[in-house]
Amino acid sequence: MPFSPALRVAGFGTSIFTEITQLAALHNAVDLSTGFPDHDGPELVKDAAIDAIRAGKNQYALSHGTIDLRRAIADHARRFYRQEVNLDTEVTVTNGAAEALHSVMDGLVNPGDEVIVLEPYYEVYAPNVIMAGGVPRFVPLRPTRLTTQGASIEWTIDPDELTAAFNDRTRAIIVNTPHNPTGKIFTAGELEAIAALCQKWNVIAITDEVYEHITFDGARHTRLATLPGMTERAVTISSMSKTFSFTGWRIGWIIAPPDLTAAVRLAHQFVLDCSATPMQHGAASALFLDDDYFSGLAADYQLKRDHLAASLRDAGFAVSLPSAGFFIMAGIEPLGWNDDVAMCKHLAAEIGVAAIPPSAFYSEANKRLGKAFIRFAFCKTMETLQAARARLVKLRR
Ligand SMILES: Cc1ncc(COP(=O)(O)O)c(C=O)c1O
Repeated sequence: MPFSPALRVAGFGTSIFTEITQLAALHNAVDLSTGFPDHDGPELVKDAAIDAIRAGKNQYALSHGTIDLRRAIADHARRFYRQEVNLDTEVTVTNGAAEALHSVMDGLVNPGDEVIVLEPYYEVYAPNVIMAGGVPRFVPLRPTRLTTQGASIEWTIDPDELTAAFNDRTRAIIVNTPHNPTGKIFTAGELEAIAALCQKWNVIAITDEVYEHITFDGARHTRLATLPGMTERAVTISSMSKTFSFTGWRIGWIIAPPDLTAAVRLAHQFVLDCSATPMQHGAASALFLDDDYFSGLAADYQLKRDHLAASLRDAGFAVSLPSAGFFIMAGIEPLGWNDDVAMCKHLAAEIGVAAIPPSAFYSEANKRLGKAFIRFAFCKTMETLQAARARLVKLRR
């Protein structure tokens, strides 16, 4: 008799992404599905990690991170957000944002606590809440057409739905801004409304800000932790993956006030022990790169966004430009499709381009909200984007 999985994970299932990835490999599809760059980050940062290895910095680090990296994280918070952070009591280095999310849930959520998850959501949120014994409470972002005919879409939360989700069992809310997959940057008004509800119900605000530096057309990301009354209840998560294109280094971090940090570290020490020491040295050098690096990153991704948007429009998709991140949610209805999963399979097998069906990022009850879109990633080289363009035109024929 085979052993069955533990009850806490038995319901998770295998994701649609695995199926699409297999189809894409079978048909040698151009991969615009995965949210990782097909190019490396800065050479200088690689050199810093290599130098650390050669200099013998190869043993365990402190569980909450090397002092150099925590100093760099605190300095970055001051430089970009005027946020003052104590590097001893308020910063924890993690194995990417993904482990940060896991340790935050394990450290802060009690069995039966509700955690508000705004959907579509990065796929680890709900499983992490469930593994901690909590209950995800979903509030959807809805695609709202800005004009009756136009392709222009804004993803909005219904303020009444959000208000109704808070109650005395609510322990935390997870806010991903800038947002994957919609490319939305939460507005000051939306963040203020979330902050007010968190304060009213004594709720912890967990923000996932891994796309913080990839913003377009002059739009700026606001850190929820810096809003009045939020310092004592905000847990800010970010990482090396998207800003520096080193997704495989697995370096992320958490900034939170001392009481929340202490709780999270209790979990983190037994989930991970510590992150890879030489990569932490590389990461510290990355966070000290000058401002031109960060503005250059956004400018480069804006060109790629515009290139992919043009290809998708020419192929017949309805395209609304994202304000941030590196994904486009393209509307499939003008092409005669209304099922994102079926369209993604067709795209991979018949057209030779891999993309992700966003209904996978919604809970069962709200899957239909994602069905009329497909998520394409543009964190790819221009050559990859051009190869995709050449194939996408076949949709028109
Ligand atoms: C919203 C969001 N958060 C977190 C992550 C994972 O970040 P990391 O590589 O630092 O674990 C991703 C990766 O796709 C993401 O899109």
